[in-house]
Amino acid sequence: MDFLTDKFLIPANRIDGTVLVTGAGGCIGAWALAILTRSGVPCVAADLQDNRTRPALVMGPDAAAGLTWETCDVTDAGRLGDIVRKHDIRAIIHLAGLQVPFCAATPALGARVNVEGTINVLQSAREAGIRRIAYASSVAALAMPPGGPYKETLYGAYKLANEHSAFVYWADWEVPSVGIRPNVVYGIARDQGMSSRNTLAIQAAAMGLPFGIPYTGNYSWLYAGEAAAAFIAAVSQDGTGAPVFDLNGTCDSIENGLAIVRRLENGAQVSASGGPFPFPPDLDDAPLRAHVPDYPSVSLQEGIKDTHRAFKLLVASGQLTRMPG
Ligand SMILES: NC(=O)c1ccc[n+]([C@@H]2O[C@H](COP(=O)([O-])OP(=O)(O)OC[C@H]3O[C@@H](n4cnc5c(N)ncnc54)[C@H](O)[C@@H]3O)[C@@H](O)[C@H]2O)c1
Repeated sequence: MDFLTDKFLIPANRIDGTVLVTGAGGCIGAWALAILTRSGVPCVAADLQDNRTRPALVMGPDAAAGLTWETCDVTDAGRLGDIVRKHDIRAIIHLAGLQVPFCAATPALGARVNVEGTINVLQSAREAGIRRIAYASSVAALAMPPGGPYKETLYGAYKLANEHSAFVYWADWEVPSVGIRPNVVYGIARDQGMSSRNTLAIQAAAMGLPFGIPYTGNYSWLYAGEAAAAFIAAVSQDGTGAPVFDLNGTCDSIENGLAIVRRLENGAQVSASGGPFPFPPDLDDAPLRAHVPDYPSVSLQEGIKDTHRAFKLLVASGQLTRMPG
């Protein structure tokens, strides 16, 4: 599966120390770990459980088995601090979080994980003098304060709280950070959350199953590898301030994406219906790209082609046997 990450590899000396990736068992975490590991950058994976299923999809089961993995609930500040000290962590990519449906289902847990967890990351960085921190906010934060054009969610409220907390950590204690608001991530290992349907359509096509996406029109197609590469770029230099940036990837229609899928998989029964997705499809990546070292961008054609190819291989090898959910 090296073809998935070949284009994102970085020089090993770009990061001067070990990188901690929280939410390592998630989609972006799996990609970040695959890129860092193949680049020869020392890294530590941390997640609630030691479940390497998603990293194995991206980097292969053997490489995933070789990861240094710490089980860690980010709401446990003491445990997080122990991990940072134990591994002499010099950079943190903080991805652990609960997505929109999970925050709606368990609001208090969502607040603890998404808000308190991010405070714990910033605090552990403060205590260890870490100057390279990138954390995942979300475009959902753009719906706050309420009353604008986009859907308000608890998830968005929590993510906005994180951006404000990061500001105060810089203003009061000079803990620098980069907040990144990914739009809709697609690619291998994207299997949960309200915006995972375009990825599921590619998987369904590769498995010969029908699939309907409940949205139409323009969409953010942010390739998972590109998203992970942006987080890695953000910790490839010491930070200053607490800027926050949108990360959109390609803006194109759901229909055009599905047309690519149909060209790759003859007879694919994938369709789209309904209205537009309730978040902006065309945010500007230029401010982030101006702030961090260069990282690759992936065209819609290339991203869907690699994703479809990888799904075919994963299905053929028996590593993927059914649709998520
Ligand atoms: N995927 C997207 O399209 C997208 C868009 C915008 C923002 N984001 C944000 O980016 C980050 C990563 O997204 P993803 O798609 O990889 O998410 P994901 O849901 O695939 O993975 C999140 C990971 O966080 C872990 N986690 C949950 N609670 C935890 C806790 N208490 N302690 C430690 N780990 C915990 C989960 O086990 C999971 O492995 C998240 O913060 C998400 O909100 C994602």
